[in-house]
Amino acid sequence: MTTAVIGVQWGDEGKGKIVDLLAPNFDICCRDQGGDNAGHTVVVGGHKTVLHLITSGILSSRTRSVLGCGVKINPNSLDYEIEELRSKGIPINRARLLVSDRAHLILPYHIARDCASEIGEGIGTTLKGIGPAYEDEVGRRGIRVCDVLQWSNSALERKIEEYCQRADNLIHYVNKVSYRSLVAFEKERKKMLRDSLEPYLEPDHNPPLAEKKQILNHAAIIEMLRRHKPLLQEHACDTATYLQDQKSVLHEAAQGALLDINMGTYPMVTSSCTGYGGLLTGSGTATRFDRVIGVVKAYSTRVGGGTMPTELKDAIGDYLQSCGNEVGATTGRKRRCGWLDLVAVKHGLRIAGATELALTKLDILDGLAEIQICTGYTLDGTDVSFPPMNDQLERVVPQYKTFEGWKKPIGEIRRREDLPKEAQAYLSFIEQETKLPIRIIGVGEDRDATILAPSEISYGALRDGR
Ligand code: GDP
Ligand code: IMO
Ligand code: MG
Repeated sequence: MTTAVIGVQWGDEGKGKIVDLLAPNFDICCRDQGGDNAGHTVVVGGHKTVLHLITSGILSSRTRSVLGCGVKINPNSLDYEIEELRSKGIPINRARLLVSDRAHLILPYHIARDCASEIGEGIGTTLKGIGPAYEDEVGRRGIRVCDVLQWSNSALERKIEEYCQRADNLIHYVNKVSYRSLVAFEKERKKMLRDSLEPYLEPDHNPPLAEKKQILNHAAIIEMLRRHKPLLQEHACDTATYLQDQKSVLHEAAQGALLDINMGTYPMVTSSCTGYGGLLTGSGTATRFDRVIGVVKAYSTRVGGGTMPTELKDAIGDYLQSCGNEVGATTGRKRRCGWLDLVAVKHGLRIAGATELALTKLDILDGLAEIQICTGYTLDGTDVSFPPMNDQLERVVPQYKTFEGWKKPIGEIRRREDLPKEAQAYLSFIEQETKLPIRIIGVGEDRDATILAPSEISYGALRDGR
C-alpha cells in the first residue's frame, strides 16, 4: 500500500499528526520535497516533538524514514534534529533513517541569499535558504550529498569558494545589500535564523561594519561540511532504487498545495512542487498512490506574506489564532486565521490528487456560536474559480454559508456519530462540496484525540507496537 498525506491549504494543516498516526502501518515513511522550512508537530501523551527535516513517522520504531532526492538538506539542521531526537530517547541510525545521495544541500550562502532577498520587500520566507537552493538545483550549480561522499580533492573546495563569491556578488549587485545590512538583518531575525548564518560570515572587525566586498567565509563552510561528512556517509544511499522495491510506503508532503511553485498563489509560494507530482519526482520513483489523504484544517491559516481571502482581522480571527495556538513551528510567527475556504481547498485538492480527506482541528471551533464556510468567490460581480494572480485573489469577494456552532467540547469524542449534530452538519457539507469522504477527524492535538472511520480502524491506524 502506497499512501500520500498532502496538505491542501497554505501549510500547517496538521500533516505531522496524521502521518504519525498512520506510520506504524508502513515499512517506510518518506519526505520528497521542501526542507527544514517545514514544521510538523506530533503530540503523544502530552509530549511534543517538532520535526522539520526528518519525517513525522520517526516515532514509529518499525518504520524507516527516508529523505528522497527532492528534499533539500541543510547538514547542520539534519545533525541538530538527529541530536534532538536522540535526546528524547529516539535512536537514529541507518536502520531508522536514509538520506538520498542525490539530494541537494542547503549551505550558508543559500541562507545569506534568502536573507538578502527578504531585506526590504520580501515574501516572508522562513529564511532557511530553500528558494536559493532550488534555484541552484535548476541552474545546475547544486552541491549534492554524493559530492560530499566523493570528496577526495580540492575540486569541491574550489566550487564552494566560487559559489560564495557568486553569492557575494548577487547580494551586492542584484539585491543591493551590503555586509552591514545583512548583519543587521541577521541580528534582528536571530530567532528565525538561530545560528545558521552568522558563523559563516566574514568576521566583522577592522574596520568595524565596513562595507565589505567579501561577505561569506568559504573556509568556515568547507570546515562545516568536513565535520558533517561522516553523518552523511552513515545515512546516504540511492533511496530511489531502494524505494522502487518497497510495497508499504507512506509519503509525507511538506508545506501545502496552495504554496506549490506551479499551481499555488505565485509568487507568494515556496519553491517546490507540493502536490502529487512533487512527491513522485522528489522520491525518484514512478509509483502510484493507492490513497492520497488531503489534509484540511477546519478553518484557514497562513503564515508569511500573501493573500488569504477569508482572513479575519477581528476578534474571531484572534480567537482562532489563540485557541488554535496558531504560531509557526519553524519561525515562531503568528499565523493569520480565517474561515474555511472551499474554493481554495478544492483547488488544493486538485493539486494533491486527493482521494479522501483528513479534517483537523475541528475542536478549535467548539466555542463559536456561528461558523462560516466560503463556498464561492466573485470578482467584479462575476463568479470566479481560484484565480492565477495574487492581485486578483486580493480583490475576490468570498461568498459564505453560515453554520450553527455546537458550543460544547468535542475533544473526548471518538465516534463521528457521537459528535453534536451541528458538527456533523459541518463535516457533511465539506464532504458534499468536495465529493470526498472524511476518514480521519482531529479533535485535539494529541495522537489519540482522533475520530477514525470504521474502515480506518480495521485498516490498522493506531496499531500498537511503535
Ligand atoms: P503540519 O505542518 O501540517 O504538520 O502542521 P503543524 O504541526 O505545523 O501545525 C498543526 C498544529 O495543530 C500542531 O501544533 C498540531 O499539534 C496541532 N493539531 C493537529 N491536529 C489537531 C487537532 O485536530 N486539534 C488540535 N487542537 N490541534 C491539532
Ligand atoms: P509545513 O510543512 C506554512 C511559507 C513561508 C513563506 C513561503 C515561502 O509546516 O506545512 P520558504 O521558506 O519555503 O521559501 O517560504 O512559504 N511556508 C510555510 N507555511 N507551513 C510550512 O510548512 C511552510 N513552509 C514554507 O511562510 O510564506
Ligand atoms: Mg507546519
